[in-house]
Amino acid sequence: MKGTFITFEGIDGCGKSTQCEMLKDYLKERGVDFIFVREPGGTVIGERIREILLDKKNSQMTSRTELLLFEAARAQITDEVIKPALEEGKIVLCDRFFDSSSAYQGMARGMGMEFVSDLNMAATGGLKPDITFFFDISAEEALERRGKRGEASDRIELAGLKFQEDVRAGYLELAKSSEGRIITIDATKGIEEIFEVVKGSLEGRI
Ligand code: TYD
Repeated sequence: MKGTFITFEGIDGCGKSTQCEMLKDYLKERGVDFIFVREPGGTVIGERIREILLDKKNSQMTSRTELLLFEAARAQITDEVIKPALEEGKIVLCDRFFDSSSAYQGMARGMGMEFVSDLNMAATGGLKPDITFFFDISAEEALERRGKRGEASDRIELAGLKFQEDVRAGYLELAKSSEGRIITIDATKGIEEIFEVVKGSLEGRI
């Protein structure tokens, strides 16, 4: 692929969406050709799957159903949006990608990291991000931030503190074995300081 595929990961409330916005503004100012998408969603089909996944009414959803719905949304956005953009040489920024499934469903829901990794590859046809930023913060601190923002929790966020701790453990494990793809950033630092790390990591690559 000619383009560069950059993904943003972390537990709920880690601040990654703020960093996505900052990077978008930065790239815009420089006239860089990029697209921004988010998971689950980013396509008409994917947004409909997203509604099912995050709907609090769907408390009876099993872990396997949840995992396969995330993978289905991912398959769609990969084929419909991400691959064509990369083939055109664009930079693709994605707020969450398959590492979310490994951490949330593989680790925290206990489906198994390797099992999920295989499904991730099936969903993306083998496409992997070039660079992944993992914004690392404790579950307590992230919860505090989410509380301050006053956002209503979705079905996944309602899973609680222990669940978020397990998600974090999943990310830390992924980062260890990613052979440099995943860049771990201390998300307790200030917004500007974090963005400097993001920019620095992209130097010479975009
Ligand atoms: P969203 O509102 O997009 O959260 P955020 O702003 O934190 O990215 O909701 C997505 C939720 O779905 C979030 O709790 C993470 C979860 N998720 C998974 O459990 N598995 C996945 O594969 C993905 C992409 C997201």
